[in-house]
Amino acid sequence: MHPMLNTAVKAARRAGAVINRASLDLDLVTVRAKRENDFVSEVDHAAEQAIIDALLTAYPDHAILAEESGMTGESEFQWVIDPLDGTTNFLHGFPQYAVSIALLHRGIPTHAVVYDPNRNELFTASRGAGAFLNDKRIRVTKRAKLKDALIGTGFPYRDFTHLDAYTAMFRDLVQQTRGLRRPGSAALDLAWLAAGRTDGFFEIGLSTWDIAAGCLLVQEAGGLVGDFTGEDTYLRTGHIVAGNPKVFVQLLQALAPHLTPALRG
Ligand code: IPD
Ligand code: CA
Ligand code: CA
Repeated sequence: MHPMLNTAVKAARRAGAVINRASLDLDLVTVRAKRENDFVSEVDHAAEQAIIDALLTAYPDHAILAEESGMTGESEFQWVIDPLDGTTNFLHGFPQYAVSIALLHRGIPTHAVVYDPNRNELFTASRGAGAFLNDKRIRVTKRAKLKDALIGTGFPYRDFTHLDAYTAMFRDLVQQTRGLRRPGSAALDLAWLAAGRTDGFFEIGLSTWDIAAGCLLVQEAGGLVGDFTGEDTYLRTGHIVAGNPKVFVQLLQALAPHLTPALRG
């Protein structure tokens, strides 16, 4: 394993320990609403600090972009961190959330870790070296038709600008696929797609830290990732479509009639 990926794994496991400890008594966790329907807890902050400490101990000159503490440092190496992806699930004791850490080199995701502390599942990838779940190689599915596909997604929950477009997409896809799932952690949604547990994924308006690691996992597992026009602006816009190569193309086609100018790029 590349030393930088190894450092990210250590950092993710430390954050996982913080999260698991706190999950034993959720009544003790203090929570604050950042915005309507957008919560942050002391656990998000503590997990983030554990990750940053581990990363900067190994690489003091690297830059950081972390959900709760923002951007620090300047370097061609930037760690992109979501310390707890799926905070709403965590706060409700719904066991679907993860730690997400990506290393961008000159803006390009190069190493990725998504760690699920509930199942002790560690998803890792390095550019050009494949994707792994607990050290076993993973690949996207070979399912060829959208009508046979299981598709992950995320509902709009805080910003309802694109709600009409989303519900139109949803209306079509429930009829054109085998099923849609909204587990509630975009990082894990992408990791599960990489591991062949779903065949595709789409969501509107995510943040870089939700998807930077998951996208590399999908690509290294043989999948494709794009924005709603199939281009690669998704890390900036957060509008994302992913899938095994066949499902990806059909998902783009199915979503195309519902694109507003803002969703085109
Ligand atoms: C959220 C999760 C969720 C997605 C939201 C994200 P958070 O992350 O990834 O699946 O639908 O858009 O904000 O806030 O729990 O880190
Ligand atoms: Ca997130
Ligand atoms: Ca988060």
